[in-house]
Amino acid sequence: MKTVTNISDLRQQVKDWRQQGLKIAFVPTMGNLHAGHISLVEEAHKHADKIVASIFVNPMQFGENEDIDSYPRTMDNDKRQLIEAGTDLLFTPTPEIIYPKGLAKQSYVEVPNVSDGYCGESRPGHFRGVATVVCKLFNLVQPDVACFGLKDYQQVQVIQTMVDDLSMPIDIVPVPTVREASGLALSSRNGYLSAEEKAIAPALQQNLQWLAQEIQYSRKTSPDHSPDFIGLAKKAAAAIDATGMKTDYIHVSHAHTLQPASEDDKELVILAAAQCGKARLIDNLQLSLA
Ligand code: PAJ
Repeated sequence: MKTVTNISDLRQQVKDWRQQGLKIAFVPTMGNLHAGHISLVEEAHKHADKIVASIFVNPMQFGENEDIDSYPRTMDNDKRQLIEAGTDLLFTPTPEIIYPKGLAKQSYVEVPNVSDGYCGESRPGHFRGVATVVCKLFNLVQPDVACFGLKDYQQVQVIQTMVDDLSMPIDIVPVPTVREASGLALSSRNGYLSAEEKAIAPALQQNLQWLAQEIQYSRKTSPDHSPDFIGLAKKAAAAIDATGMKTDYIHVSHAHTLQPASEDDKELVILAAAQCGKARLIDNLQLSLA
């Protein structure tokens, strides 16, 4: 695996591959890699000849009260995992390379509607930062395909909407969430959990499953009435809070627009975030109603 920091080196390598007619897949990350990230690289192999990954802790997507300096940086370990997974090129730019004029003077990409609620509401400006850096990375790497984890469900919808709205010639491949045996979704933030918190954290996914079952049951037993999405979500939130976590939000939404679920929707997603000690956990569950 070749590692490049400069834009010119990146462009040169990608140009060589393009001239050979090779297909390129891209996996953007912020590092501190785990099996969830590596599953994206494995998926990428199914779609392309060459895999480019990036590690860039993007200052634009962190809020003022979020400590970017304490974001875990584990470059040697990350590189080892990327090599094992067969990554061809790693791009590790600095903030000065990505934002040479500084954040205040930087153009940005805003994806309305899908960015608005949920994590967009709890973390103002977050999805603008994500969309901007991903747009910029897409322009630098010019991949045919890019892989994103469904663990960050709203992020996938924001990126897919950006690609559609701005006619970017890139296929977005959503990749299922990798979980621990307990059901807890793998996340860099799990490193902040104490042993006690780690034992209660799986209750987040368990309650999403409970909520999904209740919705399915309601649809089966009273097909002429809309399930009580809001009332059931409130119950799930109370059950999550009873474990010692603090629910930030839990909503049942349309799977693609992310608007609140309505009676006729068939493809749904339950989106949730909860504070568990120092870690803010997010998770989701997709469900199809017959
Ligand atoms: P990061 O949090 O490092 O995640 C990089 C990618 O790994 C994202 O697509 C994320 O959804 C995926 N991922 C994380 N945990 C996963 C899991 N348990 N299973 C499957 N995939 C998982 O997301 C970002 O970085 C940034 O916002 C980024 C897109 C790189 C833009 O800065």
